[in-house]
Parts: sequence; C-alpha cells; structure tokens
Amino acid sequence: MEKKECKHVAIIMDGNGRYAKKQGKPRTAGHLQGADNVRSIAIAADELGVKYLTLYAFSTENWKRAEDEVNFIMKLPKMFFDKYMDEFIDRGFKMNIIGELDQLPKATLSVLERAMKRSKNNTGLNLNICMNYGSQREITLAANAYAKDVLEGKKELGIDSQGFEEYLMTKDFPPVDLLIRTSGELRISNYLLWQIAYAELEFVNESWPEFTPEILKKCLQDYQNRDRRFGGVDNV
Ligand code: IPE
Ligand code: IPE
Ligand code: MG
Repeated sequence: MEKKECKHVAIIMDGNGRYAKKQGKPRTAGHLQGADNVRSIAIAADELGVKYLTLYAFSTENWKRAEDEVNFIMKLPKMFFDKYMDEFIDRGFKMNIIGELDQLPKATLSVLERAMKRSKNNTGLNLNICMNYGSQREITLAANAYAKDVLEGKKELGIDSQGFEEYLMTKDFPPVDLLIRTSGELRISNYLLWQIAYAELEFVNESWPEFTPEILKKCLQDYQNRDRRFGGVDNV
C-alpha cells in the first residue's frame, strides 16, 4: 500500500495531574514532566516525517483552575525554552505559539515571543504550542474580524471556507491529519474544531507524561491503515 502522508499531527496533552497524583506528587510535578515530554515527542515526530506538530498546552477554559496551578503552568515556557531552545534551533524547529497571547502574563509572553523570533527562519518541524487557545473563541474572533473587513469595505460579503480560514489563528498551517488525545478521555475540549474537520482520531489511555515515541509511532502506523475518503467513495 502506498504511504499516506501525515503532515500535521495535533495532540491534546491530557492527564498530567492524574499521572502525578497516582505517584503521590502534586499536579504541578505532572506538568513539569509533561513539558519535558514535549521535547522527546517533538524530536520523534520530526524523525517520523511529521511537518507540523500542534500541541494543546493551555486552554481558554484552564483559567478556572487553582491560581497556584495556573501560575506554575505560566512559568513552564521559560523553564522549557531555557533548557531546550538551543537544541530546537540546531534541529531546525520553527516555534509558533497559537492563542490569545496578549492575555498571558508579560513574562510568559516575552519568553514565547523570543522563541518565535529566534526560530522564525527555520524550515524544519513546525512546533506549534497552543497557549490560552480555545477553538470557539478563535472562530468567534475570526467572524468578527471578517465582519469588520466587510464594514470597512476591505472584503466582499460571501467568502467561502478557504477565505474564512485566512482569519483563523492557524491560517499558515495545513489541516490536521491526525488528532491524538492522551489519558483516555473521549472528547475534543474546544481544540481545533475547524481544523480537524477530516482528521483521523486516536485516543490512547496513557497520560501525557507516559506517552512515548513508540506510542506515537503506533498511532502513525494506525493512521496508515485508515481509509480517508473526505466524503467521496473508494476507488475499487
Ligand atoms: C493536561 O493535563 C495539561 C493541562 C490541561 C494544562 P491536566 O492538567 O488536565 O491533567 P488531568 O487531566 O487533570 O489529569
Ligand atoms: C484539555 O484538557 C486542554 C489541554 C490539554 C491543554 P483539559 O483537562 O482541560 O480538558 P477537560 O476539562 O478534561 O475537558
Ligand atoms: Mg485534563
């Protein structure tokens, strides 16, 4: 069978808190280990031929959590990039941060902006981190931006879906081919609702800190056995 291209993998990195709890540790220990795992999975994805890896790190709904936990997550980008950014540059990774960034703490934002700036000319794996991202919010902002352009006479009424995509935060990326969620939950939690329209789905029981390059490889092998019809019929 011909190899199916899997350009864009998105992952809902879930289960950090439960993983830590199981080991008698605070939830934040799970987030720390989860952040470290981003490095090994990004490297594995790159080596497996993935071109875009889009990771859900913090949702627009995650602000509901305890202040301590949120504060800890907001400090993770600095720890993460201080440790791994040089290596990512060497590997040619291009960092993109997706979400409403202006609502992040200033210190977090400046770390994220620096990572994007440092890697902006790289042509290797696009490592997209979704931070303060929510898909309904993204689509709502896009609709508002389009309406504004119409009111200002910059756009005609009646764009098609391709035209609408230009207003999304993911406008520079192809559609998601494969969406993976860890930790056994069977839901999407407001992630990339538009972009996963025809994605293949994989739900794995391991929590994010337990998700290994081998499991990623297995998900990509499963993907090879899927029959992507996009609403058409098979050529038999
Ligand atoms: C995913 O792990 C990380 C974030 C949502 C920030 P969780 O923190 O949701 O861990 P569980 O699902 O409570 O175990
Ligand atoms: C989704 O996980 C968000 C991220 C992984 C960043 P959640 O843990 O927030 O999702 P729910 O609350 O279980 O749906
Ligand atoms: Mg969770």
